[in-house]
Formats: sequence, C-alpha cells, structure tokens
Amino acid sequence: MSSGGDDYKREESVALIVIVSLAALSLLSLIAAFAYYCYITRKVSRRLNSHPLPKRSSSPPPLPLPAPVVPTQGKESPSSNSASDGAAVGALVVGAERGVQVFGYRQLHAATGGFGRAHMVGQGSFGAVYRGLLPDGRKVAVKLMDRPGKQGEEEFEMEVELLSRLRSSYLLGLIGHCSEGGHRLLVYEFMANGCLQEHLYPNGAINVGSCGGISKLDWPTRMRIALEAAKGLEYLHERVTPPVIHRDFKSSNILLDKDFHARVSDFGLAKLGSDRAGGHVSTRVLGTQGYVAPEYALTGHLTTKSDVYSYGVVLLELLTGRVPVDMKRPPGEGVLVNWALPMLTDREKVVQILDPSLEGQYSLKDAVQVAAIAAMCVQPEADYRPLMADVVQSLVPLVKNRSSSKPCNPNAQASRPLD
Ligand SMILES: Nc1ncnc2c1ncn2[C@@H]1O[C@H](COP(=O)(O)OP(=O)(O)OP(=O)(O)O)[C@@H](O)[C@H]1O
Ligand SMILES: [Mg+2]
Repeated sequence: MSSGGDDYKREESVALIVIVSLAALSLLSLIAAFAYYCYITRKVSRRLNSHPLPKRSSSPPPLPLPAPVVPTQGKESPSSNSASDGAAVGALVVGAERGVQVFGYRQLHAATGGFGRAHMVGQGSFGAVYRGLLPDGRKVAVKLMDRPGKQGEEEFEMEVELLSRLRSSYLLGLIGHCSEGGHRLLVYEFMANGCLQEHLYPNGAINVGSCGGISKLDWPTRMRIALEAAKGLEYLHERVTPPVIHRDFKSSNILLDKDFHARVSDFGLAKLGSDRAGGHVSTRVLGTQGYVAPEYALTGHLTTKSDVYSYGVVLLELLTGRVPVDMKRPPGEGVLVNWALPMLTDREKVVQILDPSLEGQYSLKDAVQVAAIAAMCVQPEADYRPLMADVVQSLVPLVKNRSSSKPCNPNAQASRPLD
C-alpha cells in the first residue's frame, strides 16, 4: 500500500517538474521573442530616421548644399506647433528639427494680401499659389491647399516630411508650413521666373496645365536647366538612402529663379524606393499624363527609372518645344515620345524635330548628343535607361562647352551668360 502511495507521489512530482520546466521554457521563449522584436523595431526605426545618409562611397563628391533656413518669424514645431491635426503634427517633428517654420494662418493671410487675386501666381491640382512677403523681407510662394480628403492630406505630409529632410540647391526649398484648423498651406522660396512649362509654351500648354508665358528660352539656357534638373533627380536617386522617387517630374515642376537657375519642386507624390539594386516598390499609378513610364503605368511597379523616363520627356520638351500630349496634332504626332523616338538617333532627322524657335542656336553635334540622351531615357525597357548620374555626366560638357559650339545658323542670337 505504502509503496503504491510512494509511486503515486513520485509520479506527481515528476509531472510537476515537467509542468514547471515547460512553463519556464515557454517563458524563456516569450522573453527571447520579445527581445528579438525590440531589436528589429529599433533597427527599422533607426533606418527610417537615418536618411539623408552620407553619400555612398562610389558616388561623386557631394552636391553643394544650401545654407540652412534660419527661422526668423513664426514659431518652431513641435513644442509650439499650433496645428490642430494630430496626425500631421506627428509627421512634422523631423522637419521642425531642420528649421522649417510653422506659420499661423493669419501670418500667411497678411503676407499674401489676404490671398488676393493680384497675388496669385499659379494654380495647380493642390490649390492656388500666391506671391507673399514676410515681415523680415523674404519673398515667398504660398500654396493654399483646396483639395479636401485623404489624398490631399497625404501629399501635404509627404511634401513637408521630405523637403524638411532633403537639402540640395537643385531642389525647391521649403521655408515653412501651416496646418491650422482645416487650412493646409506650404511656404516656399519664391522663384521669380515661375515654371519651365510657361517659358516653353508662351501661348499656354495643351493638356498639361494652363501656364501663361513671357519668353522663349535659348539653347544654352535650356541645356543648363536640363543639367540642373538632372542634378536634382540625381540627388534624390543616388545621394539619399533609401532613394526618393519623385513620381511627378514634369516641366511645371521645374521652377526657375531670377537668373533662370532650375530647382525641382513638388514632392507630394514622392515615394521611398527599394534599397535593393534593381528593386521596385508597388504602388497605385499616379503622375501626369505623357510623363508616366510605360512599365509603371502597366504594372504599378515603381523604380527610380520611372523618373528617368519622365526626365527624358522633359528633355524632349526642351529639344522640340512640344508638349508631351497634344491630340490636336496630325495623326502619329500627338504623343511626343512616340513621334520623336524613331528620329532621335538619326543624325539627319534630329534637326527636323528641334524647336524652330531655337533658330539654329545649337551646334549639330550638341543637338545629336542631347537627342541621344533623351532617346536612352525614354526607351521602353526600364533597365536600359541610364542612371541620373550618367545623364549628369553626359550633359556637363554640353553645358560647359557651349561657348565653343558653332551655331548652325550664322544669324543665331548671342547666348545668355550662364554662370
Ligand atoms: N515657389 C514658387 N515660386 C514661384 N512660383 C511658383 C512657385 N511654386 C509654384 N509656382 C507657380 O504656381 C504654378 C502652379 O504650381 P503647382 O505646383 O501648384 O501646380 P503644377 O505643378 O502646375 O500642376 P500640378 O499641381 O498638376 O502638379 C506653377 O506653374 C508656377 O508658375
Ligand atoms: Mg508643381
């Protein structure tokens, strides 16, 4: 009887030991899993907060960075952020660290003459743009969002988030923003010559906006704009990690200062690209008709090469003076890329597609080279398109050697000094 009782007790204690060991093991695995989770979370957040990172070792020397924007007016976020929208405030903290100002609605109302018509310089899909003057004398452009809903809100946040972190003299500088009540406003450096589109199409562009214009650009200025815009994209693609894909690169998003120096603007649709070489991100197709790369339009697979395609379209606009899509043209000529591509690599035909208003200010050699760059950028196979760094390298000599270029037309106008 007693031995049976002992056996029973022994079995009981073995069971107890097994249960305790199992419990201890589960606890240990839980702790291990939690520790691994913490490690991964920290790693991911460190990576997300780390761009812009120092340039990659293989990239060329860093681009000249503009002087930091020193706040002189208005309050700095996050401590004094007057925005009432919690989600927006959260996304803006990094920007505040970089000196982007937070404006009150009244300040911007006063700076732009109450958003009066006389101050309006343009109208885009985000809303109207007004010329403004800050009390410290700085000229600014104020974009007043009039698009309610999630898409507008996302674009606003992306613009602030990215422009607060990125610094390049080839990108439009964000001075500040306002997110007060239902108002969403962006405050930029004022670009005295507006957008490239309005200078290319003085009588108004068809299908791609409604820019009024003042003058035609000469060849050397076009080439310099092409180079500076290429440097803007090169910075986004190759100097920050992960790369930034602009997604809405077009002639109305290249702004020109008083000396016709170019800056790339409008990052509302931008996406962070894949870190993997040749990798893509999948996303819904957004952008502007005539500029969207075919593979992105078909599959939604977005890479930096989608921007290279859009850049090629802008280069074609600069060369031909034609808008990307114009269905009023004769059959076969409506889509710029389809019309121009077969002629871009034919020396004899290149001259036929060049903007007649250039009046032979270019050398044939330069024109053929620029046409070849454009052809590479807009080719249907994304992998064969060049990197923006390659485009920059190819354009540099064409801009620097402009004085040695012999114009096709002996009556060509004198070129504007470039530097
Ligand atoms: N910083 C600025 N300085 C001077 N003018 C500007 C500035 N930003 C925009 N503009 C003017 O406002 C116009 C509208 O710009 P906006 O970026 O809102 O629209 P868009 O690029 O023409 O079109 P979309 O909204 O479809 O991209 C520009 O064409 C330009 O003339
Ligand atoms: Mg724009």
